[in-house]
Amino acid sequence: MVEKRSVSAPPAPAGNPEPRRSVAFIGSECVPYVKTGGLGDVMYALPRELVRMNCDVRVILPRYECIPQKYQEKMTYRGEFYMDLGSTGRRVYIGIMELIDSGVVYDFIDNKEFFSGPKPYYDLVGDIPKFCLFSKAALAALNFLNWIPDIVHCHDWQAALVPVYLRTLFAGTPVGRAKSILTIHNLRFQGIYNIDTIRYWSGLPEYVFTDPALLGQNWLDANLLKGGLAFTDRITTVSPNYAGEIQGWEYGEGLDAHLRFNNRKLRGIVNGIDYETWNPETDPSIPVHYGTKDVLEGKKADKLALQKELGLAEDENKYVIGLISRLTNQKGLDLVNAIVPQVLDDFTQIVVLGTGDSTYEDSFRYYENTYKGQFSACIQYDEARAHRIYAAADSLLVPSRFEPCGLTQLNAMHYGTVPIVRETGGLKDTVQPYNQYENSGNGFTFDRYDAGLLLDAINRSKTMFFTDRERWNDMVLRDMQKDVSWKNSARQYKDLYLELTPW
Ligand code: ADP
Ligand code: GLC
Repeated sequence: MVEKRSVSAPPAPAGNPEPRRSVAFIGSECVPYVKTGGLGDVMYALPRELVRMNCDVRVILPRYECIPQKYQEKMTYRGEFYMDLGSTGRRVYIGIMELIDSGVVYDFIDNKEFFSGPKPYYDLVGDIPKFCLFSKAALAALNFLNWIPDIVHCHDWQAALVPVYLRTLFAGTPVGRAKSILTIHNLRFQGIYNIDTIRYWSGLPEYVFTDPALLGQNWLDANLLKGGLAFTDRITTVSPNYAGEIQGWEYGEGLDAHLRFNNRKLRGIVNGIDYETWNPETDPSIPVHYGTKDVLEGKKADKLALQKELGLAEDENKYVIGLISRLTNQKGLDLVNAIVPQVLDDFTQIVVLGTGDSTYEDSFRYYENTYKGQFSACIQYDEARAHRIYAAADSLLVPSRFEPCGLTQLNAMHYGTVPIVRETGGLKDTVQPYNQYENSGNGFTFDRYDAGLLLDAINRSKTMFFTDRERWNDMVLRDMQKDVSWKNSARQYKDLYLELTPW
């Protein structure tokens, strides 16, 4: 007999005056179990902060085979049931594996057939069925566990069917009384496939495949994200500026009209970073720790260590520019490629850490070969090395074509590394441009997507670094002191939960 009652997270601290709410986070990645980008960081850090604000949070994730063994071993079996697989006529096994960490309960949806392989995502042929199954199973699991949240908080297209299921197949079930929020981390990915296939795997009723619900912008396909946006009670995205941008043609990815139509539900809440993971005073991955009092010496020591690690010329006076990124079209790497020879000189070094499209991997390898000792291309995914680059670099490039929020500029600032960013999306909200008249600002910025403007921003940073070190050091300190924690943003999410559940 399976025990159905759920073990919930430890109770809130006694005397906590905050109203209590329960929230199920549903998404496709979460640190430390599985991460391909910033979504994984947010799914880790935001629930932990919400627990401190008297929320009872459960995070529901696929139990991918690629989750490292050490975490798989910590999971305990919470039960199993069988569920209709869309309209395929099949009933499939759904297991629930659980672990609890820092007051957050993690429930992993288990099904070996759908979540196998060394990566979380492949192509849409496999990913569409996988995430149709996941979205439905997540709600079925909440009913099964008899843990009915006040809010289901879904993330990106992979969980976008959750609000649709909630108001259709699950409307008359216990979880149907929950309110829903859908957060857009990246509008470029929407889960678009032909209607017949999505109808087959989802089992959703005919009437949802219409406009303004799942019917795609071409009137032929079905669009999972579009459906989720239509059915959800609230939409958030990860910065106020991006919330505005996506309602226009340039950044709307074909959904701008749909977002304008739904815009009374939409708001932007900027991401933060986890101050325990990102703390130069305690970071186990960096050789020399530092805080605001000894940042200048600390960063110099970390710079020398990184130069040694990467085979760059060892000199603490060189200007080191970092770039930590998925190497994709989103990230503005063609701009970087175009200007590397003009940036490098006897006093400047560039360190790139990233994996992705082979064109960028290859061009950065080419530069490493051509500019030995000055350019380092680390074509890899390496968390610890990322921490060491944030600590060692003087500045960090984020010249993105579009950027819903961006976390690397936040990590950089917190480590006293000056960001050089394009004024788009969350980069514009989080990096205030340097103002020479007031000696204020956090970094160097440029507006149009243009390599010459990026070069100009880098040159302005270099000029300040080499000719006005006092002002440079002021900026380093301002960056370290800037509040980029989750506190303010988690408060805004909590307020949104309370708005939706005003009892
Ligand atoms: P996105 O989600 O679009 O990739 P974000 O800036 O939101 O961009 O988040 C990227 C996250 O992934 C940051 O935490 C960054 O430090 C990390 N990251 C990106 N590339 C690498 C890499 N090659 N090695 C280690 N960490 C990386
Ligand atoms: C997406 C965006 C990035 C954002 C992250 C976390 O991957 O590309 O800008 O920071 O999600 O919300």
